[in-house]
Amino acid sequence: TTIGLDLGTSALKAVLVDADQRVLATAEVPLGTQRPKPLWSEQHPDAWWDATLAALATLRAQAPEAYAATRAIGLSGQMHGAVLLDDADRPIRPAILWNDGRAHEEAAALAREHPHLAAIVGVKPMPGLTAPKLAWLAAHEPEAFARIRTLLLPKDVIRLHLTGEHATDMSDAAGTWLLDQARRDWCDAALDAVALERTRLPRLVEGTKTAGTVRPALAAELGLPEGVIVAGGGGDVAAGAVGIGAVGEGDAFVSLGTSAQIFVASAAYRAAPEALVHAFCHCVPQRWFAMAAMLNGASVIAWAARLLGLSVADALALAERETTAPGRVLFLPYLAGERTPHDDPYATGVLVGLSHDTSPADIVRAVLDGLVLSLVDGRDALASAGVSIETAGLIGGGARSPYLASLLASALGTPLVRHRGAETGPAFGAARLAACAATGDPIAAVATPPPVLDVTPPDPALRDAYAAQLPRWRALYRALREEFRRSHLSRPSGS
Ligand code: XUL
Repeated sequence: TTIGLDLGTSALKAVLVDADQRVLATAEVPLGTQRPKPLWSEQHPDAWWDATLAALATLRAQAPEAYAATRAIGLSGQMHGAVLLDDADRPIRPAILWNDGRAHEEAAALAREHPHLAAIVGVKPMPGLTAPKLAWLAAHEPEAFARIRTLLLPKDVIRLHLTGEHATDMSDAAGTWLLDQARRDWCDAALDAVALERTRLPRLVEGTKTAGTVRPALAAELGLPEGVIVAGGGGDVAAGAVGIGAVGEGDAFVSLGTSAQIFVASAAYRAAPEALVHAFCHCVPQRWFAMAAMLNGASVIAWAARLLGLSVADALALAERETTAPGRVLFLPYLAGERTPHDDPYATGVLVGLSHDTSPADIVRAVLDGLVLSLVDGRDALASAGVSIETAGLIGGGARSPYLASLLASALGTPLVRHRGAETGPAFGAARLAACAATGDPIAAVATPPPVLDVTPPDPALRDAYAAQLPRWRALYRALREEFRRSHLSRPSGS
């Protein structure tokens, strides 16, 4: 038996998986996010460990015998967060998350002063990545910066609690803007750029390899056997890829979670920073991936549903029942700013075209259309970097809705394949990485695509309707780009 833990942004998810890769138990523990200032997004690392303990207790209650026979744990998690630990391994401050935009000036300065580094570290410096946040800390919280003994990624806090080790895997390290992606090692020039010594970074391990074992006293407390291995694991996108079997050249999928990504695996490192593509190490050896990373995924649907007083399921059903084509209302989904394709932390959500007869269904539909069109932008960013997609998997919470899948397949003009267990993607992938570490089996044998649930083909009429709407929708962002910046800077508490 193996356990996969995925430290998401809105919840920690856990799965218990047997040797035949059957999911025996699942747990989900919600997590809150703190937004104390405009552009800020933080969580306290202690909340992650509390959630881990609660999730493990749930797995144990659901399948006590299998749980007691656990051989290995795999970790997955939200990428790019900056967790700063002091000499006693205590968090110096709350973690600064992937969707935090405060480090925009520092990101711009890194781009100006170190233009050649993007091709080495895989991506342009953007505020959501870890390194610009370190530069922000050095400038705005110098005492905190000076106290950093160890920088960790979010999921690796769970590893530290479990094993006492400071370690991370290649795919999570990849999102720091500090990794030499081709060499799969920390990049000294990037470290110099943010004045961080190598000694403050965690040890690097491949996601499929053992990175430590659960501390004996803790194992006893948790009801786990002695010597449970903790595998390197992966950033949530890469672990999701392992869950769906996307480890070979060209294997592609769309992930619709809190954020959204389009992911294409590759057997070589190919940088395309100008297209705002992220070229990162995969969590399996000798593999990389190209990714369009959008900050606004299925969370924009949850936002709209909440405003309208509906559940997400009811909001989707309403739009499906009462709207047929993309309508007159346009929505820009940039509630958290945007990375691909705009690199714009100031961008906000926008609804245009409201009138007295605009209905709740029209609003939900506009939100769904804005979301799927933003994925078309992501796909086109990849295409401009020479990465094409014939067919793609679909994972994440957004994969639950066949209606949304159909809108997305049509907008992309690409069939979307849903696999069994797609919702537990990254946690399931983490459990597979744990299995590799425990058995030594090659990843190709473990990371096979799960059985196909269904294939959603593009609807030709809808595809044409989206193609017609796309230029207007894109023009709206261009028209507002300067306004986003102005209104951020004129906010009283805007920093
Ligand atoms: C990827 C990204 C998000 C986070 C949160 O670049 O920022 O996927 O990993 O899930």
